[in-house]
Amino acid sequence: MGHELVQISPTGLPPANESGLGAAPQALDRAISAARADLSRSSSGPRTFYIETFGCQMNVHDSEKVAGVLMARGLRPVENQAEADLVLYNTCSIREKAAQKVFSRLGAFRKASRQAGKIIGVLGCVAQQEGEKIFARAPWVSLVCGSASYTRLPELLEQVKAGRSRVRGLSLETGECFETELVRRDNPFSAYVTIIEGCDEPCAFCVVPMTRGRERSRPSERILADCRRLAEEGYTEIQLLGQIVNHWQDPSSARRSFAGLLSQVAEIPGVRRVRFATSHPRYFTPEIVRAIENHPALCDQVHLPVQSGSSRVLSRMRRAYTREEYLEKINCIRSARRAISISTDIIVGFCGETREDFEQTVALLDQVEYDQVFSFKFSPRPDTAAAGFEDTVPEDEKRRRLAELQEHQRVIQLRRNQALVGGECEVLVESFQPRLQQAVGRTTSNRVVNFPGRPEWVGRYVQVRVTAAGPNSLVGVRADQALSGGVGAPWAIATCTVDGRKATAARRV
Ligand code: SAH
Ligand code: F3S
Repeated sequence: MGHELVQISPTGLPPANESGLGAAPQALDRAISAARADLSRSSSGPRTFYIETFGCQMNVHDSEKVAGVLMARGLRPVENQAEADLVLYNTCSIREKAAQKVFSRLGAFRKASRQAGKIIGVLGCVAQQEGEKIFARAPWVSLVCGSASYTRLPELLEQVKAGRSRVRGLSLETGECFETELVRRDNPFSAYVTIIEGCDEPCAFCVVPMTRGRERSRPSERILADCRRLAEEGYTEIQLLGQIVNHWQDPSSARRSFAGLLSQVAEIPGVRRVRFATSHPRYFTPEIVRAIENHPALCDQVHLPVQSGSSRVLSRMRRAYTREEYLEKINCIRSARRAISISTDIIVGFCGETREDFEQTVALLDQVEYDQVFSFKFSPRPDTAAAGFEDTVPEDEKRRRLAELQEHQRVIQLRRNQALVGGECEVLVESFQPRLQQAVGRTTSNRVVNFPGRPEWVGRYVQVRVTAAGPNSLVGVRADQALSGGVGAPWAIATCTVDGRKATAARRV
């Protein structure tokens, strides 16, 4: 989902003493000029690169594509910034603290920038929003580029290589998507595929339309060709991405619908799981639910951000649906032939949110019984409509509401997860924890499952019997071991967190 995001301040800039970023001393300027001169003398330019990424899945995938662009030009990825000739920092500005983090992180790169030939670049949403201010506060940065200008990256890098300082890619005027010959994928079995970039929605709180530009959809043929190639390369899970993924509109003559695209991706041989994020309720149709029903490869999961349970707040947020209209979409998902888990994003303390509005959001949690909720305190963002509204809910009250909402949801999640104990689920193993000898994976409904396993199971699908449940994860045992009496001890011991406390569950298998 697009919600594991760093926070940034409404002002965008921390005080100079906090980040250590004041006017650059002359010595530093001299070192930077020397490094640039060095670079322009060298015909080879940077040979290695390192990208640090913050933010949503879209940012993670953008970095994978940027890495592909660099590798196609002969640059080699390295494990840390110290070894890299080119350090790129891909940033997020969805909430308040990210800009502070960006500037303090750039402060850490200041010393590194003195190394001859080292180039520092800032990418992503903070690059787009802060633009020139980044050069002013961190003169050791040579390149600032927002995501709408990534197609220009090769040209911009040439300029940096030629010794130019303050190279910028800040135009939002693009109709193009970021297509690359190569993508350096970080995960060997689950692949991201962007289907739509930008966002044209008027959500009053959200900075994305200002940082990622106008909506632009990729043609279905190109998306399907990407997915087929990924399946041939051995990827079994495909995650279709877009800030407003279900508003994808096929620009090709095939004129496929979003539900049609989902179905076609799901039918590609070798594709076992398809996810998509993030959907906007306004464009969520029953056809999407029918597609999920008809294609087992489409995961039993929908992420449908509601933001608030109060129609009054929704209207101020300019979300273009009421609580009742949202609930109709939920009913449609709940009435599907197979159980589909539902997750959401919620903002508490939006401008003008009363206690009663907030209580309607809490009541919505009970009504929908979400499987997962990502909740945030409202943080005013520059250039958004809400920046002009009065931020009426005090910080303390926002904090209280957030804690109350999260506690309420924790109980719901625990109950829903505990209902799964004793049942079986198929788990795609995503990692292995050697210390605990535990495999960690996900169900099709996007629940995390921990169970005793082996390192070679990573990337495989394992049938697991659920033995215990906490609010945020399940624990279990491999079902075929369980059925055959197990390989070792006839008891499965598992730990999980229940009611905030570590609990150990033991059960005969
Ligand atoms: N469509 C996007 C939404 C991006 S933002 C996606 O792909 O997920 C992710 C979530 O962050 C939003 O759904 C919203 O709940 C939250 N968010 C966005 N702007 C915010 C703000 N100004 N303050 C607090 N939370 C915000
Ligand atoms: Fe943001 Fe609303 Fe688009 S939350 S990404 S403006 S759908």
